[in-house]
Amino acid sequence: MSDRSTFDTDVWTLTRFVMEMGRKAKGATGELTQLINSMLTAIKAISSAVRKAGLAHLQGLAGSVNVTGDDVKKLDVLSNDLVINMLRASFGTCCMVSEENKELIVTPKDKRGKYVVCFDPLDGSSNIDCLASIGTIFAIYKRAIGEFILTEKNVRIKPRGKIYSLNEGYAKYFHASVNDYIRHKKHPEDGSSPYGARYVGSMVSDVHRTITYGGIFLYPANEKSPEGKLRLLYECNPIAFLVEQAGGLASTGTQRVLEVQPKAIHQRVPFVVGSPDDVNEYLSFVRKHQ
Ligand code: AHG
Ligand code: MN
Ligand code: MN
Repeated sequence: MSDRSTFDTDVWTLTRFVMEMGRKAKGATGELTQLINSMLTAIKAISSAVRKAGLAHLQGLAGSVNVTGDDVKKLDVLSNDLVINMLRASFGTCCMVSEENKELIVTPKDKRGKYVVCFDPLDGSSNIDCLASIGTIFAIYKRAIGEFILTEKNVRIKPRGKIYSLNEGYAKYFHASVNDYIRHKKHPEDGSSPYGARYVGSMVSDVHRTITYGGIFLYPANEKSPEGKLRLLYECNPIAFLVEQAGGLASTGTQRVLEVQPKAIHQRVPFVVGSPDDVNEYLSFVRKHQ
């Protein structure tokens, strides 16, 4: 017989958390709760589609590239449609920014609310066919104000980790400071042990591990991508917000990510995120090479 005491019958689902927090918030109208719950429904539907992808022939290229030049897969398109439709139907958005849409998506007048939602419907899409982890990233801003909404609580990141994470295949194109930093992680001169290397290639997974175990994730600029690859509004900002909430740091190498003033909806920024001591150590290499 199973031990009943190990089975949690009072589970804190995200829906429950959002509803409970919504009730506690002073002057809350329920609009944000409805918006987040619509987002969650879209994410559950995406998750279900991802699980069925092999059987439903959703794998493989959709035959086009997205607005920022990456291959678009069928699941990207489907995930994008799911998020847009669910958010529109939540009556909580006035407009949306998606990695998959070149232009701003303006909500029809009769369905408008007060939030701007920026999202990457399926981050890590190059990992779909090999069944590695992928995920949805989103940021919610109040119209004109640029405010972020906390969706998790009490997650803490270690001050320092033992893992570095970046696509080292670009070493030839990296700035000397990046290569110097990586060399130091592999051949430390201060008596410390070398770091382990991990790189899934889905930022959502790499950052999840970084928050869980500590360490550093980097997508720096390189000669081929002078601003890096990752997009400020729907990749770097939401991740930077989460990591900072957990006690970590997120930087472009020269500036705190959350302080970058966006100039374009698909703007890219170099991105370094993780345990505070690790990020600060990286920044000291940047300064050393300036
Ligand atoms: P996408 O949103 O197009 O799936 O991009 C994934 C991102 C990020 O998740 C990952 O860290 C990075 O691109 C991987 O890019 P490289 O192949 O250049 O390393
Ligand atoms: Mn992405
Ligand atoms: Mn994507």
